[in-house]
Amino acid sequence: MIVLGSDHAGYSLKRKVIEYLEERGIEYTDVGADECERAEYPVFALKAARLVTDGLADRGLLFCGTGMGMSIAANKVKGIRCVVGSEPYSAAMSRKHNDCNMLALGVRVIGEKMALAIVDTWLNTDFEGERHQKRVDMITEIQDTGGLES
Ligand code: RB5
Repeated sequence: MIVLGSDHAGYSLKRKVIEYLEERGIEYTDVGADECERAEYPVFALKAARLVTDGLADRGLLFCGTGMGMSIAANKVKGIRCVVGSEPYSAAMSRKHNDCNMLALGVRVIGEKMALAIVDTWLNTDFEGERHQKRVDMITEIQDTGGLES
């Protein structure tokens, strides 16, 4: 299950990505915004992030003007690792090495075709684990304790 969230700026791209998910039979839930009317991105970043950390969604996709506000807000939720997607290579690496569970896209930065290529890559790339697990665990430790023991 993929959770999607957007503000007013990201709404149109979110609709395109929903079409992509529906064409592929990928289960999703949309936490809003439900239209292009002005909406505050932290509200929807938080709603989507909580579904991921509560285990109700496997991963999340966020959409705003730049992807940055959504990403900053989502990363404030314990257990979220969110990056802004700008091209497929980094999106793949965010899965392989960083086990990112949320991806934010900026509708004013990338075009629709690029966005769909990034989403396709990100959804179809797995975490490699092994040496990268230790590093992800260290990120969690920083979040939990404010520092690193090791
Ligand atoms: C809205 O104008 C814009 O600030 C928002 O969509 C996002 O880009 C924030 O990071």
